[in-house]
Amino acid sequence: MINCDLGMSKPFDIEIERLTGQPTYSEAGLSVSARQRGTFFLETFGCQMNDHDSEKVAGLLLSRGYQQVETPEAASMILYNTCSIREKAAQKVFSRLGEYREKQSEGKVIGVLGCVAQQEGEDIFKRAPWVSLVCGSASYSKLPEMLAQLEAGNPRVTGLDTDTDDTFETEVTRRDNPWRAYLTIIEGCDKACSYCVVPFTRGPERSRASDSILREVRQLAELGYSEVQLLGQTVNSYADPTARRMRFSELLLAVADVEGIRRVRFTTSHPSDFTRDIVEAIEKEAKVCDHVHLPVQSGSTRVLRAMQRTYSREQYLEKIAVIRAAKRPIGITTDIIVGFPGETESEFEETLSLLEEVQYDGMFSFKYSPRPNTPSLSMSDSISEQEKGRRLAVLQDKQREIQAAKHASLLGEHFEVLVSGKSRRENQWTGYTTSHRMINFTSQERELLGTYVHVKVTGATPNSLVGEHAV
Ligand code: 5AD
Ligand code: SF4
Repeated sequence: MINCDLGMSKPFDIEIERLTGQPTYSEAGLSVSARQRGTFFLETFGCQMNDHDSEKVAGLLLSRGYQQVETPEAASMILYNTCSIREKAAQKVFSRLGEYREKQSEGKVIGVLGCVAQQEGEDIFKRAPWVSLVCGSASYSKLPEMLAQLEAGNPRVTGLDTDTDDTFETEVTRRDNPWRAYLTIIEGCDKACSYCVVPFTRGPERSRASDSILREVRQLAELGYSEVQLLGQTVNSYADPTARRMRFSELLLAVADVEGIRRVRFTTSHPSDFTRDIVEAIEKEAKVCDHVHLPVQSGSTRVLRAMQRTYSREQYLEKIAVIRAAKRPIGITTDIIVGFPGETESEFEETLSLLEEVQYDGMFSFKYSPRPNTPSLSMSDSISEQEKGRRLAVLQDKQREIQAAKHASLLGEHFEVLVSGKSRRENQWTGYTTSHRMINFTSQERELLGTYVHVKVTGATPNSLVGEHAV
């Protein structure tokens, strides 16, 4: 499962134009062809897969002559790429749609993409009749046809199939980050975690051909990207459909081998498919980043069974032992759900003791949220909101302590950092280490964005490091 928050911290304001390398448009400045073909505003909720899907949707629309604009006001088409992983995320979409109700009467097309589109389907037209396009992620490759239907005057168009063998490949992807390129290598999910909507909203697992992935990585390197992040809900379940039958670990090494690539990341790994050869690839090749995101969800084997996670606490800890035994230290992060139906106090305490045992470098934690269609929906959501909130706070306090101690132990160490942000404050920069620790640092250099620098750690908070440019 792709984490919703990973990579989304935006500590500093960076001008959009600088990030994208592309100008933003005001209505007045639009070319004639854009005015004819239309303009689109695309807002994205949720995980990195959604962010990257939006980059591909934007690329597809740009290649068809549409122009991207910065505000819904300037757009002839307003698109929302949505998330339904937890109830709150899904609710947010409907409240946002409500805000744009009157825009339809101004002649704008309003479209809902992504997981809420897939989950709610045509019901969206009932709840928000001003919407005219509903399209789930497995149907994005059909978007051009759907837009043509809208242009031909069809008032309501849907794309809701999930029984597709397609992976969503486009000739043009408009990437938002000029240094780190996201690349989906496997779509959908064949696991059946009892709390999770993803198998319903994103459909079955489909792996992309290894030669097509490597071709795209070579193009990305030529365009100047030095860091590639391979994405998938269960990225390490990758199964190359070509005759080469490349293993996931071989793919990591092949991507690292592309000239110009300096860092290869991958997320999210599923514990059951996490094999020793992945650790060996990290040991062997410094360009394969020393970070594994390995969601555990719970420290209790009983709860893991009820979650249908396909491993026990002990089996998970065996995977952790393999990672910790690597010749090169590897950062480990996780996801945890508290308050799953029937989770007892002592089962929750098992999660706390797992945190103590593993000493994670980072954690994303969530209160259990019952979701439509999922098997756990039929279990009674027995833990009160208040109790879920208490457990979450206790868990986060514990992890904060662990991270504070970990970060404090890094004082005086040097890290290579890819500089990805500049503060408004003079001489302040931010970037990530290979193990995905965020570091804010000072440097007298005038321009560092997109470069790799060495930074000495001079301070630490539980969530990030503080440092200075070591020349
Ligand atoms: N309730 C709470 N958290 C959930 N996640 C997925 N489904 C749910 C749900 N129904 C969490 C898992 C997953 C992360 C992205 O979101 O921890 O790994
Ligand atoms: Fe991840 Fe399980 Fe959801 Fe698949 S079903 S996306 S493995 S949480």
